[in-house]
Amino acid sequence: MGGFSLSYLLGVDIGTSGTKTVLYDEFGNTIASSLEEYPLYQPHIGWAEQEPEDWWRATYLSIKHVISKSGIDASSIKGIGLSGQMHGAVLLDKDCKVLRKAIIWCDQRSFAECDQITSIIGKERLIEITANPALTGFTASKVMWVKNNEPEIFEKIYKILLPKDYIRFKLTGEFATEVSDASGMQFMDIPGRKWSDEVISKLGLSQSMLGELYESQEVSGKVNKHAASLTGLKEGTPVVGGAGDQAAGAVGNGIVRPGVVSSTIGTSGVVFAFSEKVTIDPKGRVHTFCHAVPNTWHIMGVTQGAGLSLKWFRDNFCIEEKRTAELMKIDPYVIIDREAEKVAPGCNGLIYLPYLMGERTPHLDPNAKGVFFGLTAKHEKQDVLRSIMEGVVYSLRDCLEIINEMGVNVSEVRASGGGGKSELWRKMQADIFGTDITTIKSSEGPALGVALLAGVGTGIYSNISEACEAVIKENTRQVSDLELNAKYTKFYGIYKRLYNSLKKEFADLSAIL
Ligand code: XUL
Repeated sequence: MGGFSLSYLLGVDIGTSGTKTVLYDEFGNTIASSLEEYPLYQPHIGWAEQEPEDWWRATYLSIKHVISKSGIDASSIKGIGLSGQMHGAVLLDKDCKVLRKAIIWCDQRSFAECDQITSIIGKERLIEITANPALTGFTASKVMWVKNNEPEIFEKIYKILLPKDYIRFKLTGEFATEVSDASGMQFMDIPGRKWSDEVISKLGLSQSMLGELYESQEVSGKVNKHAASLTGLKEGTPVVGGAGDQAAGAVGNGIVRPGVVSSTIGTSGVVFAFSEKVTIDPKGRVHTFCHAVPNTWHIMGVTQGAGLSLKWFRDNFCIEEKRTAELMKIDPYVIIDREAEKVAPGCNGLIYLPYLMGERTPHLDPNAKGVFFGLTAKHEKQDVLRSIMEGVVYSLRDCLEIINEMGVNVSEVRASGGGGKSELWRKMQADIFGTDITTIKSSEGPALGVALLAGVGTGIYSNISEACEAVIKENTRQVSDLELNAKYTKFYGIYKRLYNSLKKEFADLSAIL
């Protein structure tokens, strides 16, 4: 590793609530970090859009802040890795101008296009090639929605890029992507780790609209002059493929070998397992994508409204807590945790279904809606808070159970994401899953993961396993309480049945909205 003078690596994570840039030294120590936030637009129920220019501004500002905070010479940054929210469709015209706001991962408008894609390609053939059924979450159905509903925009499409790949274009001028994030576009041959001409041409698109496809650790371009002047980076700094935020977070959590699974509570919630081969759930409830580790894949279950649920409650009903937190100069979630801690597990019978943005795993239902079930006059705000946290973990247990069903061995679950910072939320995971929950020392999963990939691509580490081995250390371990596990399992049984009882009503409600 390294030479005599210290090398640095930069990880940039273009998230849904903001862009986080973190500078690491070659031993994985965080040197400086910066977060720049931006808005999410929801013009209709179930729609979600963002402005790509907001991501770019947040990226160059956060890089600039990190470099100036750290005081290092930018020429000692040996490589940059990009991570980001997956699936979003950034559409550019031939002058490389953004054609419309990006339709992002949690947007649910494209359900009719999923049927269309399935009938064009064929249900079985689609799964054979792309390893997944057509989903509203994936880029392909979003692009088809534009084709069907905004033909004047569709006609002008020159390039279709994922969020982090738009940032790559701004940094380097290259149109490129990498296998882990591109898997979620549904234009790839997942077993072959290449674009699928069959899918792309049958959908009336062309491969030239998509970026050059790299493995995640490969160098995809170099920082250009204009980007260097905006960011303070040195012109010519290599930018590696990087990874979608989930695969990046997994690398940053050491999920690069069988047995250790991660459970991430960010805006979405994800249970992520490594796989040496392409393993597909025949019901399509979990996604099978290429991993950021060459020649390996991963399986992941996704809950649409994880951290999003608690943030929704915080922003709409916790004005008091937010004010107190501001006075005490602490995070409002710390106060929310304290409130939720006062309530006994099971919330006196209050059960929350976290389907505020429809649901992927296990229901694949864009019409699903959030529900509080079992409310009584005895319940107080703190019960509601805790029920949201428990409901999110029940939905992660849904993901974990499917991964178990697929024969993946789970010896340990590593918690991460904003929700993984909460000791209470980690304890709930240990008790609801019935498995020990660990955390690692660095909490910047995706940014660390892509910084490590940048270290591999620029020769600081010889491969990803070595990089993870060198840098990732266990921090905390939450032991599962078997008695509580039995108690939660009773509530979870009811939680599981509630969706089926309400499925038709969710669809009826959507039809009149
Ligand atoms: C994964 C997914 C989300 C986004 C947002 O499939 O849609 O996790 O990447 O972070």
